[in-house]
Amino acid sequence: MRVLLTGANGYIGRRLKHALIQKEGIDIRLMVRNPDSLSSAANERCEIVKADVMSPETLDDALQDVEVAYYLIHGLTHSNFRDLDRQSAQNFLDACIRQKVKKIIYLGGLGDKQTGSEHLLSRIETGEILSSAPESLQCIWFRAGVIIGSGSASFEIIRNLVQKLPVMITPKWVSTLITPIGVDDVIRYLVAALELESGENRMIDLGEEAMSYGDLMLRIAAGMGLKRYLIPVNLLTPKLSSYWLTLFTPVPYGVASSLIEGLKSEVVTTNTLRHELFTITPHTLEEAVHHAVEEIESNQVISRWSDSGAGAAQSDSSDNIANAIFIDRRVVDFGDIPPQNVYRSFCMIGGESGWFGYDWLWKIRGVIDKLFGGAGINRGRRDSHHLRVGDSVDFWKVVDLVEDERLLLFAQMKLPGKAWLEFKIQEHTLIQSAYFYPDGVSGRLYWYALIPIHHLIFSNMASSILQRAENMQ
Ligand SMILES: NC(=O)c1ccc[n+]([C@@H]2O[C@H](COP(=O)([O-])OP(=O)(O)OC[C@H]3O[C@@H](n4cnc5c(N)ncnc54)[C@H](OP(=O)(O)O)[C@@H]3O)[C@@H](O)[C@H]2O)c1
Repeated sequence: MRVLLTGANGYIGRRLKHALIQKEGIDIRLMVRNPDSLSSAANERCEIVKADVMSPETLDDALQDVEVAYYLIHGLTHSNFRDLDRQSAQNFLDACIRQKVKKIIYLGGLGDKQTGSEHLLSRIETGEILSSAPESLQCIWFRAGVIIGSGSASFEIIRNLVQKLPVMITPKWVSTLITPIGVDDVIRYLVAALELESGENRMIDLGEEAMSYGDLMLRIAAGMGLKRYLIPVNLLTPKLSSYWLTLFTPVPYGVASSLIEGLKSEVVTTNTLRHELFTITPHTLEEAVHHAVEEIESNQVISRWSDSGAGAAQSDSSDNIANAIFIDRRVVDFGDIPPQNVYRSFCMIGGESGWFGYDWLWKIRGVIDKLFGGAGINRGRRDSHHLRVGDSVDFWKVVDLVEDERLLLFAQMKLPGKAWLEFKIQEHTLIQSAYFYPDGVSGRLYWYALIPIHHLIFSNMASSILQRAENMQ
């Protein structure tokens, strides 16, 4: 059976890829916008195909000889995401029909059209489109609510809130009912759906126990060994709640407000088809929390909500970096320090290890970024030692990584232009370059205003990288 996995670099897609690789008897094809964003381990077991669902002509090759296709694509970052998501789903369905695909497996969200947020409505529309050709192919449409797992946006928000705040003033929506599910269980259902008999379309709701959002927060806190108190008040408007989340958690304003909007309506299961079709016993909430915390503590997080989008950032980088107008470059000879240590040292940048000095300046920049609706500095990183293309590093994203040679970061902070930070090893020199492509006059003024700060940060950074490399064994 040949299986196509779309969204292979997304939060769910990366985990599903891991699970499918363990499964015998299937040929896996991964569809990505930029093949360089996949690790060499993925290349060994999977065929890689480059395609963009917004360019229908690229989809036929991706779907050729495919029996089952997973659809895990969405483009929340665009302001007109609903239109784009509808178009994406239609393009994909049309190509599946042309290529005689037998089954699409899709994961959307729980909730209904009457009360759903824009985000949920887009997920429902996508499911409806993918299910609209039952005479040609079957659609298995899973629906999940809050996903409990390391790196999931909802879980990260709650984890950060309960860790930082012993007492929380909460909006009245904390009484909204939701059905959470552990990410590992979601993956188990997605894999098991490969074996489902062909036939009619199915809509399968995932999750077992409904509870209020407030109870979910308290139970996650308890799972982390914390006793917390919630004080619900009616005064907290969606806007205020979103600012609150932006301030105390790693998510930027856009993600916070879309989650808060989602909290207004119930997201509970409405059918029990999962029991009839599968023999899976899902984990309890406490088990899912325990597993998520364990993964975080042991640096074993497979994917994070902020990992996707590398495809778009990468193509943007290769087009633009050569045209950067401003460059701050430092070239330092590192003598007989092993180049591998220099590489390991600069790959530890950001997150808990900090920025090789002047961390307080980076933190101020992070707060300014959050105030302007950006990601801020507290997204941290997935793993404190290892990086992978697509990983977020505070408000940067890894767009290129060549072992023992190069790390290229693309700035995701709010900027009047585009910026990159590159570390390169050439023989016995470390070349550290900050590139900036300004947007008009404001971009140029921004760069000139920051020259003194760049001078402080960047000259110190290169030498601190080498110092850390020298101290490594
Ligand atoms: N995460 C959750 O907590 C959660 C909860 C409930 C339901 N779900 C559902 O699960 C599904 C997957 O969600 P996710 O969180 O894994 O999403 P995600 O992390 O945001 O990933 C989205 C994926 O879509 C790909 N993509 C975007 N535009 C594309 C295009 N034009 N052509 C090809 N690929 C494109 C991205 O590729 P690049 O890497 O190239 O950008 C990325 O891999 C969604 O339907 C979502 O509603 C998720």
